[in-house]
Amino acid sequence: MRVAIVGATGAVGKELIKVLEERDFPVSELRLFASPRSAGKTVTFRGEPLTVEVTPEGPIPADVVLASAGGGVSKKLAPLWSSAGAVVVDNSSAWRYDPEVPLVIPEINPESARAHQGIIANPNCTTAILAVALWPLHKAFGATHVVVSTYQATSGAGAEGMQELLDETRNHLEGRPVGHKVFQHPIPFNVIPHIDAFQENGYTREEMKVVWETRKIFGEPEMKISCTAVRIPTLRAHSEAATVLFERPVTPEAARAVLEEAPGVEVVDEPERNRYPMPLSATGKWDVEVGRIRKNLAFGNALDFFVSGDQLLKGAALNAVQIAELLL
Ligand code: A2P
Repeated sequence: MRVAIVGATGAVGKELIKVLEERDFPVSELRLFASPRSAGKTVTFRGEPLTVEVTPEGPIPADVVLASAGGGVSKKLAPLWSSAGAVVVDNSSAWRYDPEVPLVIPEINPESARAHQGIIANPNCTTAILAVALWPLHKAFGATHVVVSTYQATSGAGAEGMQELLDETRNHLEGRPVGHKVFQHPIPFNVIPHIDAFQENGYTREEMKVVWETRKIFGEPEMKISCTAVRIPTLRAHSEAATVLFERPVTPEAARAVLEEAPGVEVVDEPERNRYPMPLSATGKWDVEVGRIRKNLAFGNALDFFVSGDQLLKGAALNAVQIAELLL
């Protein structure tokens, strides 16, 4: 396949290049695009140097375009990139809620990808990480209500977000004033319950993405979901604490057995050995870690569990390449 990456110099773009290499994706030609700032930079793919080009405002001569350059760029340009036949797998939120555009997690709804009309949307990172664990439980026990609180890494705000955590932590430790640009407040030694814009209903757009996207991917437009999304001072990998009510009888043992068999999931649930999902252990992994699986004490027939997944991989680059694999 002729592959193009738009946003190749960004946090997700760099992971896309690595994931293509590691999954031995059959690439006949790779073109790398970014903003004019990066044009001419060299990036290595399978030992060969490739030059970064300016993103075109027209068709991209490729079979698949993996795009991660932000919503504004994708909204305007994705239809042009695909106009000569390329399929755009778009990591931004620009197309996810368009009823004509499939929103795909290959472990859950691979068949939806077939209905594409040139663009396939890659879900929000927080949604994807929860969904791979929630879906097998939903199929087995019928989830009716989901309440989730997130612990999201700075990588969710791209390479600049990760750099801000490092720079401002250094400022804090060395006694200099601590600033912020990417985040609404200083991020070191803080948690910020504010990701993306506040909506009229009091939730943030990030929180509503989890609601809208989980419903669309699961094909469950009525599923009751509520989310609190929080930025924490970690570099990479998002964690989420979920409480889920089910319609059919469930036990932690039965849930664990279902999750052991589920694709894209690694059960890490040995509290007696201090083993549970954490961002540090989930970083770099393709699977999402699930653990702390227990019976919820407040509701009948409900479970609590904790997930950690690499935001740049299952939450972005890996899922995009898996979608491209569906097109092979
Ligand atoms: P550049 O590095 O040249 O700015 P991140 O999410 O880590 O911030 O990365 C965003 C990616 O999107 C980068 O590769 C960035 O390129 C690219 N990008 C940003 N703005 C544009 C634009 N207007 N056109 C094309 N690519 C863009």
